Amino acid sequence: MAIISSGGTAAPAPRGLRSGAAPERLVDPTAAVEEPPVREDGLRPRRLDDYIGQSELKQVLRIAVEATRRREEALDHVLLYGPPGLGKTTMALVLAEELGVRCRITSAPALERPRDIVGLLVNLQPREVLFIDEIHRLNRVAEEILYPAMEDFRLDLTVGKGTTARTRSLEVAPFTLVGATTRAGSLSSPLRDRFGLIQRLEFYGQDDLEAIVQRAAGLLQLALQPCAAREVARRCRGTPRIANRLLRRVRDVAAVGGHGRIDAALVDQALSLHRVDGRGLDASDRRLLALMLEAYGGGPVGLETLAAGLGEDPATLEAVVEPYLLQLGFLQRTPRGRIVTAAGRAHLDAAGALVA
Ligand code: ADE
Repeated sequence: MAIISSGGTAAPAPRGLRSGAAPERLVDPTAAVEEPPVREDGLRPRRLDDYIGQSELKQVLRIAVEATRRREEALDHVLLYGPPGLGKTTMALVLAEELGVRCRITSAPALERPRDIVGLLVNLQPREVLFIDEIHRLNRVAEEILYPAMEDFRLDLTVGKGTTARTRSLEVAPFTLVGATTRAGSLSSPLRDRFGLIQRLEFYGQDDLEAIVQRAAGLLQLALQPCAAREVARRCRGTPRIANRLLRRVRDVAAVGGHGRIDAALVDQALSLHRVDGRGLDASDRRLLALMLEAYGGGPVGLETLAAGLGEDPATLEAVVEPYLLQLGFLQRTPRGRIVTAAGRAHLDAAGALVA
């Protein structure tokens, strides 16, 4: 299966919680520029059978793939949503592999001009997969070009200007659009309604994460003890992308220290160095909880207020930082604002020595 990435001139998506000139977060679930590009990341599973976790999603997609294969049609358009780092891009690549077709990869901010999206669509071969990341950021013009393409595999193009403007229809090959978003609620309903399959990716459980870490360790030829895999899994915020990143940092410490077998103590040493605590929180998470507790008595406090206090973009705070704290039950969203829970307070007290 060939993978073609396109675009890339537009501004990057907001990254995780950053403060001033502080270094990037090790536990930022969004993709880091220094990480292997999609086609070179040997840790990604290529087939549904290798993809660990997300069992409901896999079950739905396995049936859809098998049915379309029998009908010899393009798979219905698929919308994947959920927090970053859980495997939406990977799943698009897996789907293409299962269908035996190419996957073309782009992201909405790279589709700035109408000709960007038109160029991609007219070059698609029958049944190919077009993956659009951050699809909630698609501009209105690109969205309107997509509607007839998704529905009838047709492009309605306006040729000429003013009174001489005319509409021309152009056929495109039957294709599958896989859209990915961290913000399903930000998609317009006409766009959302054109996806036949809408699936949420969930944070991974401890067992699945341990299996993902062990699989990655095998591919990286690391001798990882089960207790070490458990420790990485506990600290990776339910997110495989972070698990793999943490594993690479552990590998560095093991290599420099000349450790052959990696145990839990070595994982602790490596991750403490990066200030990632026992539940996967880093200094930025703890700063958020500390700000809420110290300046607002634990809340309720509004998202905008918190973002301003931390010098962070509210959308990033909401989409990238909060989901894991909500999942842990350290934070709650209420109609009057965010509050720190008793568990969040207890964690911060216990982690006191680590607070930045
Ligand atoms: N690596 C990253 N995500 C994975 C997953 N869901 N299954 C297996 N390996 C992975």
